[in-house]
Parts: sequence; C-alpha cells; structure tokens
Amino acid sequence: MATAAANGGLFGRVKSLDAILATAKKQGLHRSLGAFQLTMLGVGAVIGTGIFVLTAVAAQKAGPGMMLSFCIAGFVCAVAALCYSELASMVPVAGSAYTYTYAVMGELLAWMVGWALVLEYALGASAVAVGWSNHFVGALADSGIHFPAIISNADGLMAKVTLALGGAATPDLMTAVQSGGFINLPAILIVLAVTALLIKGTTESAMVNAVLVVVKLVALTAFIFLTVPAMHSANFHPFTPTGFGNLTSGTGYVGAAASIFFAYVGFDAVSTAAEETINPQRNVPIGLIGSLLICTAIYLLVAAGAIGTIGAQPVTSAAGAFLAPGSPEMAGRCAAIISSGATEPLVCSKHALVHVLQTIGYPKIGWLVGLAAIIALPSVVLMMMFGQTRVFFTMARDGLLPASFAKVHPRFKTPYVVTAVTGLFALVFAGLLPVGSLADYSNSGTLFAFAMVALAVMVLRVKDPTRKRSFRTPFVWVVAPAAIIGCIVLYAALDVTSKLVLVGWGGIGLIVYFLYSRKRSHVGQGIFEVPELDPDAPPMSVPPMPGAPAPGSRAERRKP
Ligand code: ALA
Repeated sequence: MATAAANGGLFGRVKSLDAILATAKKQGLHRSLGAFQLTMLGVGAVIGTGIFVLTAVAAQKAGPGMMLSFCIAGFVCAVAALCYSELASMVPVAGSAYTYTYAVMGELLAWMVGWALVLEYALGASAVAVGWSNHFVGALADSGIHFPAIISNADGLMAKVTLALGGAATPDLMTAVQSGGFINLPAILIVLAVTALLIKGTTESAMVNAVLVVVKLVALTAFIFLTVPAMHSANFHPFTPTGFGNLTSGTGYVGAAASIFFAYVGFDAVSTAAEETINPQRNVPIGLIGSLLICTAIYLLVAAGAIGTIGAQPVTSAAGAFLAPGSPEMAGRCAAIISSGATEPLVCSKHALVHVLQTIGYPKIGWLVGLAAIIALPSVVLMMMFGQTRVFFTMARDGLLPASFAKVHPRFKTPYVVTAVTGLFALVFAGLLPVGSLADYSNSGTLFAFAMVALAVMVLRVKDPTRKRSFRTPFVWVVAPAAIIGCIVLYAALDVTSKLVLVGWGGIGLIVYFLYSRKRSHVGQGIFEVPELDPDAPPMSVPPMPGAPAPGSRAERRKP
C-alpha cells in the first residue's frame, strides 16, 4: 500500500502517476506484438455496425457527400489516436481515458471522463446490438421467417411518446404509430447473451478474433467487388444536397461525419496494447494509422459502391422537410414509401449493405454479407461491454463507485456486479432506441473523452517532460490541438438532442460526484492502493491479440 496524491481543492486531487505505474509494473505484460498484428487488431476492433448499418444514417444526413464525412471522421480519429497512444504507453493500466485523466488533470475531470465513457462503451454496445438485431431480423425475413414487427423495433412506441409530448400528428408520424414496433427484443437478447458470456469469463480467443477479422474483410471486399464496377456517375449528383452542416439538426456532411465517427471507434484497442508491443515508438503509429487508413479506404469504397449503385439522396417529409434519421417521422415516411411499392431507398434500410446487394440482383450474396454481420457484430458488443466493465471496475476500486461494483465472482473470477449493471444499462437502451441515435449519443461521450486525452498529453508534456514515454505523439503541439478542435467540431455538428445527452448525463455525473463519490474517494482520503497481482483477478486489458494469448489467460500469466 502506498500513499499518494494531494487532497487538494476542486482540481487538486491527482492520482500519483508513480503509484499507478507501480500497479502497472506488477501487472506488466510481455512485449510480443508487431506492426502487422497491431494493424489487424485495429481493423478487427473498428469494423462493425458503423459501416454495415450507419451508412444509411450518414446518407440521410449528407447524401453522397458522406464520402467526405468518412474522411473527416477518419482524420479526427487519427490525430486522437496518436494522442491516446502516448498516454496508453505511459500509463498502461485499465480504465483508459479515465485513468490518464486522473493522473494528469485530477479526480473531478477524471470522474467526468469515466462518466462520459459510459456513453461511449455502454451506449456503443447498445448501438452495435441494434445493428445486429437489424441484420438478424432481415436475414430471417429473407429466409421466409417474419419476426413480428412489434418486437423487432421501438419505432411505434417512440412515435407515441412523440405524440404524447406534443409532437404534431403528421402523416409520417401516424404511419409510424401504426406500423412501428414497441421493443427491440433481438437487441435485448444479444446484450443478455454477451453479458452472460462476460460474467462467465469468456474472453474471445485470439483465433476467434482473427477469424472474425477475416469474415468482416471478406464480406466488405465482396461488396466492393460487386458494387464498384456497377456504379453510375449520375447517382453522385447532387453530391452535397444538405451542405456543410447544421448546428441544430445535425445534417450536412460534417453532421454525417459526427455520426459516422462511430464507425472508427474501437481503435483505442491498439493504443491500449502499446505496452505489449515490440518497439512501440515505431509499431504503435503504424498499427494505428495503418488500421485507420485501411478502414477509411474500405469505408470509402463501400460508400462509393452503395451510392453509385442505388443512389443515396436523403428522403424528405411529404411536405419536403428534412427528416432526422432514426426519428419516428422518418420511420413512418420510409414505411409509406415501401408500402407504395417503390424501391426502398438506401437511407431507409436497416441493413444498408445487404439491401444494396439485394437491390442490384445479388440476394444470396447479400444474405451471406448479412450472415457475416450476424457472426461478427457480437464480438464488437463484447469488446465495448468489456471496456465498460473495466472502467467501472477501476472507478469502484478508486472508491468513486460503491465497493460492491468491484466484487469479483468467487467461481468465475469476473467483476460480475459491474458486468450485470453494464448489461442492464445497455439492454434498456438497445430495446428502445434506434441505432443512429444510440451511435450519436455514444459519440458525444467519446468525443469528450478523446478531447480530454489530447489535452492531458499536452499538460503532461509540460508538467513532466522527462518521464519515459514508450511512444511519443509526433508533432504533439499540432496533433493534440488538431484532435481537440476536431472533437469540438464533430460534437458541435451532432444534432441538439445528442449534444444535450452529454450535457444532461454530465450534470447527473456531477451530482453523483459531489453527493457520493467525492467523500469516498481513496485519493481524497490520502490512500492509494497498489493491488498485489492477484492471479484470480479479472483480465484488465482488451482485446486479445491475433496470435497472442488472451490477456489474463493462463498462458499470458506464465510469461516472464
Ligand atoms: N466501430 C465500431 C462499429 O462500427 C464501434 O461497430
């Protein structure tokens, strides 16, 4: 047990970096990863619901201009990733952005980051679960099994809520009331299944991880090969029908970038693997930038293929007004278009890539691409929920959340309480909200956390310039400000509701902090525990590397 840290004013409670590093040293990991493995790790962690589903959301916001959106979001992620890696290589312990902020900018901001990470990870898991549900329901329908609409989405319920809150009874909203469902049962079930796996202590094996990367890459490559040669240039006009961006509605290509940002989230898996990387100064940036470049190239080709074959112009209300993706009005409008016998527009599809292939005459390959999503997306849900449980676990161990949160299951050796809480949180939202809204809410939290990490890198360069950094952010005084500005611009480009979610959630967080956490904080009480390396403690880093034993596995612990 080491004492550390000041019990200072509002921003004075900093968790000593040395004490954190003492923990890390005890839990030190063997360096085994090269540039290729890191790149594959990044690609595997990143590709998910974003490209398989949110392509339709981005199209509704930006039309063909979503190609610009993929570039903007990819750039912001690249600069944020370079900052993330410096801290990850210095403070290689669980809790990611939360722990970094605690060490550099103090407890209050760390709490806010940890609180915002709930949006990133738990709501992110909900978003991916809904994306999975869309593919599951779609694949059943294509096989002739019609899953009841009433339990496959919550569009009807949300339309009723909108009406009850005084929303105008437009024809689109009334269609949603009649045709929409009440709850998304498949999304709830997949969250429950992943929660059970996490409680049981399943970490995805390296082999399964590698196979899933291949499954996703094969599906997207097939999509590109079938669609790109069939593109028509006319489908790219007008290229930016909604313009640059709108601070209220979240439209425009910057607004679409703020949504499609979700498609890149997950690269932090590469940053957190810095401590396990051979020559991190060289290999981490290759892994990060390499995986982001590969994903951006794939995303651009997929987007071009989708736009070029079936078009991607936004649909408007019967009166010609913009419709927010995921809104009950949009759901009603799409239902009306489909029931009129017209071809379903890309922006209405709940499984965009499958829909494109079906529309251009490849229903069987479309079905297989859907199957690839059904097989691969649960691992993205698992990774996000795993990240959430480790952040909660670390916060509880620091005294900021009830100690019962950090309880480890006697038989499974997993933090079962935080896992159950995370699962409950994720399933409620997965059951009720559409994927686009969930992704936007998740992004609002992620952008806040990324901006704080970029700030922390600069603060630590000034406060502690000589401390060893296995990886140094190149051109930090350009890259870190670019990351902060990028995060602010994307946050501003979200729709008002998503922006308010971060503000409201942050407000609740402050209340909890001042009423509960502040007086119970271990650092505040002048104690900082350096836990002994417990052979039965849950694995703390995600995810397992292709070709390396899963973190926390017996093989991993045997390493010198
Ligand atoms: N980037 C991940 C996805 O798109 C979160 O599903």
